[in-house]
Amino acid sequence: KVIVLDYGSQYNQLITRRIREFGVFSELMSHKITAEEIREINPIGIIFSGGPNSVYAENAPSVEDEIFELGIPILGICYGMQLITHKLGGTVLPAENAGSREYGQSQLTHTSSRLFGNTPEVQTVLMSHGDAVTGIPEGFVKVGESADCPFAAIEQEEKKIYGIQFHPEVRHSEYGNDILKNFVFDVCQAKGDWSMANFIDLEIKKIREKVGDKKVLLGLSGGVDSSVVGVLLQKAIGDKLTCIFVDHGLLRKDEGDQVMGMLGGKFGLNIIRVDASERFLSKLAGVSDPEQKRKIIGNEFVYVFDDEASKLKDVDFLAQGTLYTDVIESGTETAQTIKSHHNVGGLPEDMQFELIEPLNTLFKDEVRALGTQLGMPDEIVWRQPFPGPGLAIRVMGEITSEKLEVVRESDAILREEIALAGLDKDIWQYFTVNTGVRSVGVMGDGRTYDYTLAIRAITSIDGMTADFARIPWDVLQKISVRIVNEVSHVNRIVYDITSKPPATVEWE
Ligand code: XMP
Repeated sequence: KVIVLDYGSQYNQLITRRIREFGVFSELMSHKITAEEIREINPIGIIFSGGPNSVYAENAPSVEDEIFELGIPILGICYGMQLITHKLGGTVLPAENAGSREYGQSQLTHTSSRLFGNTPEVQTVLMSHGDAVTGIPEGFVKVGESADCPFAAIEQEEKKIYGIQFHPEVRHSEYGNDILKNFVFDVCQAKGDWSMANFIDLEIKKIREKVGDKKVLLGLSGGVDSSVVGVLLQKAIGDKLTCIFVDHGLLRKDEGDQVMGMLGGKFGLNIIRVDASERFLSKLAGVSDPEQKRKIIGNEFVYVFDDEASKLKDVDFLAQGTLYTDVIESGTETAQTIKSHHNVGGLPEDMQFELIEPLNTLFKDEVRALGTQLGMPDEIVWRQPFPGPGLAIRVMGEITSEKLEVVRESDAILREEIALAGLDKDIWQYFTVNTGVRSVGVMGDGRTYDYTLAIRAITSIDGMTADFARIPWDVLQKISVRIVNEVSHVNRIVYDITSKPPATVEWE
């Protein structure tokens, strides 16, 4: 495998991900790793990631000198290149003295090098640095430059040590992927026979070692991430895993039974299903403010989970479906914090558990691939996102069982029709909203005064921005007719045609 030492760049997990995409296992590791530990791991290559520091800063993250003597190929990216330069006797100047900072795309010209292989001599790369290398260590040669960066790429061919000032892992670097490939395959001589199946074997081994004879608790939501963690842990430690599935009564139609049937039945997970709908609904009675609703649900979730967890004896570990994106947003040891992440529910602070987070090196699509590899069906692996507060934030205003029933039944019809029309993988998220507004209608010969229901369907990549989905009129018409006919208390359907921003995906 190729290990990537973490110097705190926001992009560093992207490097490992690209390499895994090549079919070569790659993992991010702390830069505090010793040369001895690396020798034991015996990677085929080492990459020093970028990072926000200056090599001259006090406590700047560094690396043991012996790492350069292991005979393992090294590639330094951005800060990584500056670190190599600094450690091996070259000079790095802080931004103020280096002339110019460089942020954004720039044109790189390179000479012949194994790193650049047969990529074009002039190519676009993404630069993002303050400090710059101004003198290279003895034995190194310069193999690339850009207008603002005289040493954009350097190498010591014999020792297989390479440094590049730009970021090959991002798409803005035109041939970045080829350059990484050249390093991994040409320089490190990788075979490229790794796959998600190997990841599973490796993770299972790690989990078994960590858990031993102890017990693990998992909060199961029925979503992709916690379900994949559940199935993976089940494979690793069997009945040493206990799952708690809190049914807050705000789930979609038949969702609770499906989770139990599929994960509890087919995959044999040991699941405690807690029917807490009464508890949640009574706490929510009379509350119409969206934020207050969310807060009540979040808190209640923790109480219920806590109540159940405390009934269990000798649980030492708590498993969570934290993804890499969650980790990076909360800030790692070296990366700067962008925003703090709260896991669903948020756990009581006095709970004394050690965490197991087997997905925390993976991106969402890798988790889906992992789920598929574990034999999980598309209906779980490709489930659309569903918010923690559930249907409560899709009933505007005060929640009543009647309003909840309307949104639950209509949502089921919508999902059925979207699947029938073959649109379920194209539309990122689709659901109905009970607007709480009543309007006048006519059914048969009678006047009605019933709910107006909205359909929300969006396309998106990550939920951060979204566009409304262009569902064909005839599909919308069929949905509208079915909902009005089959769901009581609905006499009008509207389609939400706003994007995000300015609207959000959910209505509350
Ligand atoms: P918004 O409404 O913020 O939604 O545009 C963006 C995405 O996040 C989901 N969402 C939530 N997910 N807990 C969650 O786990 C929440 O409280 C929550 N609120 C919104 C929403 O469904 C969409 O996918």
